[in-house]
Amino acid sequence: MCENAKGKFYVTTPIYYPSDNLHIGHAYCTTATDTLARFKRLEGYDTYFLTGLDEHGQKIERKAAEKGVTPQQYVDGICKATKELWKIMDISYDDFIRTTEERHQRVVQKIFEKLYKQGDIYKSEYEGWYCTPCESFWTEHQLKDGKCPDCGRPVEKAHEESYFLRLSKYAPRLIEHIKAHPEFIQPESRANEMLNNFLLPGLEDLCVSRTSFSWGIPVTFDPGHVVYVWVDALSNYISALGYLTENDEKFRKYWPADVHIVGKEIVRFHTIIWPIILMALDLPLPKQVFGHGWLVMDGQKMSKSIGNVVDPVVLCGRYGSDAIRYFLMREMPFGADGNFTNEALLSRINSDLANDLGNLVSRTVAMIEKYFGGALPAMGERQEVDDALIALSEALPAKVSDLVTKMQFSTALSEIWKLIGECNRYIDLTQPWVLGRSEEGKTRLSTVLYVLAECCRVVGVLITPFMPQTPARIFEQLGVTDPALSSWDSVGAFGGLKPGATVHKGAALFPRIDIPKEMEALAALNPKKAEAAAPAKAPEKAPAEEKDEEELIDIDTFFKVKLKVAKVLTAEAVKRSDKLLKLTVKCGEETRTVVSGISKYYAPEDLVGKTVVLAANLKPAKLKGIVSEGMLLAAADDEKGLLRLLTCDGEIPDGTEIG
Ligand code: ME8
Ligand code: MG
Repeated sequence: MCENAKGKFYVTTPIYYPSDNLHIGHAYCTTATDTLARFKRLEGYDTYFLTGLDEHGQKIERKAAEKGVTPQQYVDGICKATKELWKIMDISYDDFIRTTEERHQRVVQKIFEKLYKQGDIYKSEYEGWYCTPCESFWTEHQLKDGKCPDCGRPVEKAHEESYFLRLSKYAPRLIEHIKAHPEFIQPESRANEMLNNFLLPGLEDLCVSRTSFSWGIPVTFDPGHVVYVWVDALSNYISALGYLTENDEKFRKYWPADVHIVGKEIVRFHTIIWPIILMALDLPLPKQVFGHGWLVMDGQKMSKSIGNVVDPVVLCGRYGSDAIRYFLMREMPFGADGNFTNEALLSRINSDLANDLGNLVSRTVAMIEKYFGGALPAMGERQEVDDALIALSEALPAKVSDLVTKMQFSTALSEIWKLIGECNRYIDLTQPWVLGRSEEGKTRLSTVLYVLAECCRVVGVLITPFMPQTPARIFEQLGVTDPALSSWDSVGAFGGLKPGATVHKGAALFPRIDIPKEMEALAALNPKKAEAAAPAKAPEKAPAEEKDEEELIDIDTFFKVKLKVAKVLTAEAVKRSDKLLKLTVKCGEETRTVVSGISKYYAPEDLVGKTVVLAANLKPAKLKGIVSEGMLLAAADDEKGLLRLLTCDGEIPDGTEIG
């Protein structure tokens, strides 16, 4: 059915509840789905990416009433804002379905009728508890201390004549399916949770209609009833494809979904209720449901009702959507919860984007301009260092593809960044600025710069699904004009770039951020939080004492301090300290351990390879149990929260004395 050689790939996000205050947590799930969809498209799959809004239910009805508008007016306004956010974040959905759309409602009604006719839905009396914020039914014994076991909020007594779906009838088949298909529920721990907490203890039939409010899809044969929102919402995955309509071409082509990406709190609906509806409809089950973790702030799930939300529009406006997308996918493993802090965001932008990626591209391009007048040189004879880097680059696409397919977005990015790191190290090893001095050196240099430029191109292609805007800016600087060179097929074999292409340095891909200053600016944007986030006030200075004459020293005193050039070999955080880094530095023949209070200002990986200044004849001092053999010099302003290490301008061997 699918003419595409690679086949089809159908991926979905949950359809969101309309929210007047979309936060970065919402963007998390959609960004991941978009990244996967873009990756599959890049690889050549006929990809379909669905998202949308889940617009019915009591919650919406109440909110609209509070605002004095109709539910439809209320959701229309939010739909517009949601689509704008997705545009800002480059979300490349193929379809956006709203459950208030006619095309959806009609299909849900048909599904309900069909299941009723075949006896899988029946009428009875419902008595129990309902959590309106979660739109979930609970039995007495499922409550936790009388409250909703999912969110801990109060529940309301529900007593209605209702329709029920026979979950119990299909439970054994579902249990078998889950056991036979370990890939069906991912990560695996969530499958065990579903089996042990819900399926194995025995499923009760599910109440699938309501009569106490009207903002929902009416049951055609019993108009006082509206369809339970979760049955309504879950059906979007097939209604959007035209299931049970005359135009069901997309349904036949794309169903079953390859993966439904959902937050961990709604895995239950997607792996119990939804598969049973599909079984009852005699349809194949989705191949996978992946339950991702939450973005948390202050230890709690970021959510509007808790008031700890971060506005993605503001963040994208300040740093660009690519930086935000990168952070969301890089910072934490997809299945686990992760903490959101402005500081973590800003330091990732500086270290990974401005330093690692940005510097690599700008150094490469600047050197081609400087030594070859901006014309990309050709690759000459290869040496071992070149081969190693080229092999790494050639192996990368398959590695990244495998990781992305397993939703290991963070690891996929760190693999790409390994190549970037190796390129930066390759520059240090090959020393282009030395090669550039002689004609003979320049022959070698042409290979070095070609290899670097080609690696930048490969990186550009591989990051496209994560950061859709940055690659074009890299390609422009590299003089890549042929679209074939940004394709998936062009990255497997090294050497796509055409020698002679004109490169030209552009603006920095990611300008460095002054983190302390930016933290204050961000705190000021959020007046409620500003107080808490503002840096602690510096203690009042002691009143200036009579100023001593500034003491002058003679040159001999100065030379008592032995300053030497050192090279940082390794760097790591010191356990149980938020200030200290443990470094090993090479200083001529010797290697020393130095503990330095700079961890707020440098990520360990930023330091490796740096040429720094060491006070070499200090008495050793013990810090957090580690003996520090010397001190690194730095310019520091504690009040402003600034610190920069002194480094050497240009090439000079470590061990050299300073004076
Ligand atoms: O559940 N961190 O909609 P929703 C990570 N309408 N993900 C988060 C998050 C956070 N802080 N906050 C929200 C619904 N999400 C239903 C879905 S599907 C047929 C119906 C994620 O707006 C959340 O986990 O409450 C979920 O996957 C998505 O945003 C929509 O949540
Ligand atoms: Mg929710």
